[in-house]
Amino acid sequence: MSDTILRVENVTQRFGGLTAVNGVSMEIKKGEIVGIIGPNGAGKTTFFNDITGVYTPTEGKIYFKDKDITGMKPFEITKLGMARTFQNIRLFYRMTVLENVMVGMHSRTKSNLIDSVLKTSKYNNAEIEAKKRALEVLELTGLADYRYNYATSLPYGLQRRLEIARAMATNPDVLLFDEPAAGMNEEETSDLMKFIRDLKGYGYTIILIEHDMRLVMNICERIYVLDHGSLIAEGIPSEIKSNPRVIEAYLGKGVQ
Ligand SMILES: Nc1ncnc2c1ncn2[C@@H]1O[C@H](COP(=O)(O)OP(=O)(O)O)[C@@H](O)[C@H]1O
Ligand SMILES: [Mg+2]
Repeated sequence: MSDTILRVENVTQRFGGLTAVNGVSMEIKKGEIVGIIGPNGAGKTTFFNDITGVYTPTEGKIYFKDKDITGMKPFEITKLGMARTFQNIRLFYRMTVLENVMVGMHSRTKSNLIDSVLKTSKYNNAEIEAKKRALEVLELTGLADYRYNYATSLPYGLQRRLEIARAMATNPDVLLFDEPAAGMNEEETSDLMKFIRDLKGYGYTIILIEHDMRLVMNICERIYVLDHGSLIAEGIPSEIKSNPRVIEAYLGKGVQ
């Protein structure tokens, strides 16, 4: 197998007359941390939705581990080893931290509805396995001590980390984060940066959309820049910082 884990070819996403993503191609190598940046409305989240099966692209192809995943359902893509977080927090606040992680795993557990109603041994074994994996992930993310607390009791930075834990529980190879530092203060953002570097150390491939330029420039090995749905630049952070098209796209749009 090649060292390319994700290959996107000419993906276009139209909503009626609006072209949200316009002929975007990219190639992500195993183990990379890649950033996707661009002004608000550039099409970043829509692009993630295309890759993860929330939308089927109007045009183009997506290959994950050399398999054509274009048009597959989100749960099928999750099963192949891709997991994501969302721009807005999507936790279940009346569940504990542990339960929030386990909820994300049910597409991966092998028991079906009948098994779960009858509480068969297959169901019980799947539950035991799921709990074991969830606890492992909570250890890795530093959330183990909070496992029986309600999600709502966590400080904001840890709530966002819990979302990452939930994604990790599905045993992915690739993690996609949509603005993981949104709403974080400087200290929380620094913790997140360290944590994302740790994730790379565990072998994950990470693709992140982010507005916080300090985070993007510090941890991403390569960056793609979207503007009005089109890719306008690709390169290492120092190239992106000095790219005139990128600077122009951001002019007056409040990027530090
Ligand atoms: N489901 C949808 N239906 C119609 N328009 C959409 C939909 N999702 C996103 N858009 C539009 O697509 C464009 C890109 O949005 P989005 O991908 O959210 O941008 P970003 O994440 O870069 O801020 C915006 O103009 C947005 O209004
Ligand atoms: Mg977005």
